[in-house]
Amino acid sequence: MKVISILNQKGGVAKTTSAQNISYGLNKLGKKVLLIDFDPQGNLTSGVGIDKRSLPATIYDLMKDRAFGQQKLSIDEVIINRDGVDILPTNIKMSKVNLELAGIPGKENILKEILKEVYGYDYVIIDCPPSLDNLTFNALIATHKVYIPVQTEFYALEGIVELMDTVDLINTRMNPDLEIGGVFATMVDGRIKLHTEVIGQLREFFGEKMFDTSVRRNVKVTEASSHGSNIFEYASRSNGAKDYMGLCKEILEREEN
Ligand SMILES: Nc1ncnc2c1ncn2[C@@H]1O[C@H](COP(=O)(O)OP(=O)(O)OP(=O)(O)O)[C@@H](O)[C@H]1O
Ligand SMILES: [Mg+2]
Repeated sequence: MKVISILNQKGGVAKTTSAQNISYGLNKLGKKVLLIDFDPQGNLTSGVGIDKRSLPATIYDLMKDRAFGQQKLSIDEVIINRDGVDILPTNIKMSKVNLELAGIPGKENILKEILKEVYGYDYVIIDCPPSLDNLTFNALIATHKVYIPVQTEFYALEGIVELMDTVDLINTRMNPDLEIGGVFATMVDGRIKLHTEVIGQLREFFGEKMFDTSVRRNVKVTEASSHGSNIFEYASRSNGAKDYMGLCKEILEREEN
């Protein structure tokens, strides 16, 4: 079971969209996937078509339960299956987690402990919040590979050094298995010169960590999530579906060869 975090503390770079579509793409390629919404915004939960307001229990409840040593709530009570992928959903209640767990020893290790109770999956995909706080530390401590989506805009590389420093720090102090698995460009418009230039800069900076596949800007991608669906179900012949499938195949080449 490999744990992958989709991380970039910059907002709106397509973390959630990518976490969703990579999970469904891997599932189409025969992999069993658990997808974790680890962002209190709960965009992923809505994106897969789950009503955030009426959830009986969320990943937040699991974390609190484990943090305070209760162990009453089982993971199966929280998982919701949507079209073949298991989801650990969340909602805005999770925004309290940083405060509530502030004084708890080992508060960074809770997700890792929860994942020890999980079995039978090929991949666990975590959609991280746009921040480098205790929630993200929890994700990184439980993670083997970090995949970084980058939007090919002028400030694309801003914050990347901070992000890599954080990954390094967690790797040195707390999680020797952690590494950056890859970087991919999102919302790319090949007609815009800046976008192709930024892809070039990313390739120079990241070398072979940079994926060959870029995800093009494609309105079907947004429409799919707003209909509570993924790109493969919603528009299987779209550029979005082609790009995310290309990305998934590259991920499997990297993870399984
Ligand atoms: N390939 C694409 N083509 C067009 N729109 C896209 C594409 N990928 C993502 N988007 C849109 O861009 C917006 C931001 O995407 P998303 O919510 O996935 O980013 P995020 O990094 O998770 O944001 P946050 O930092 O707030 O969590 C959304 O409206 C999404 O539908
Ligand atoms: Mg998001």
